Amino acid sequence: MIKIAVLVSGSGSNLQALIDAHLSGEIVGVLSNKPEAFALERAHKAGIPTTVIEHKQYPSREAFDDVMHQQLLDWEVDLVVLAGFMRILSEKFVKAWEGKMLNIHPSLLPHYKGMHTHQRVLNTGDVLHGCTVHYVTPELDAGQALAQGMLKVSHQDTAHTLSQRVHVLEHLIYPQVVEWICTGVIQHTTAGVMYRGKLMQEPVQFCKL
Ligand code: GRF
Repeated sequence: MIKIAVLVSGSGSNLQALIDAHLSGEIVGVLSNKPEAFALERAHKAGIPTTVIEHKQYPSREAFDDVMHQQLLDWEVDLVVLAGFMRILSEKFVKAWEGKMLNIHPSLLPHYKGMHTHQRVLNTGDVLHGCTVHYVTPELDAGQALAQGMLKVSHQDTAHTLSQRVHVLEHLIYPQVVEWICTGVIQHTTAGVMYRGKLMQEPVQFCKL
């Protein structure tokens, strides 16, 4: 059984979706860089071990990442799932977990990398918006996309309603992708990412238009 660690900094609604999905893999630990993260309470309630590693207590990004790396090794983790983890990771750390670390981003990548995606979508007047599950690579929000959830932006939408609507999609697609990895439906190989035995050409699309 695949061992999963979930890295969080905040509310942890994606963590909750992963817990509720009763995955074929086991969430062996939840790691937060913030002691006040509500995600920790969710983990406690589900009986999942937690650890807090406060980045402020380390002299450099690399020093913080080294401690996280060691914790993941101690948990014997196969898959690292970033779920609202609000730290930029060092290249060394990312490379150590390349092909084994996922993130979810609240936009249809490659559009709107970085922060404040919902407001930027509204400012541009886009009709489509959504979220992307992707492998993590050293370049921010640029790893191979595995799945996207898509919705139609309405005239009534605000950044707040878009955030809520995108979260619904996140809770659908993130557990699905993690389950696909747990069951070998998605495999990261030297030849590329395989999906159902074939080279994945584009992310799997989930639409709620
Ligand atoms: C989500 O919007 C996700 O796309 C982004 O961080 C947020 C985490 O939300 N990476 P939550 O803590 O899972 O509720």
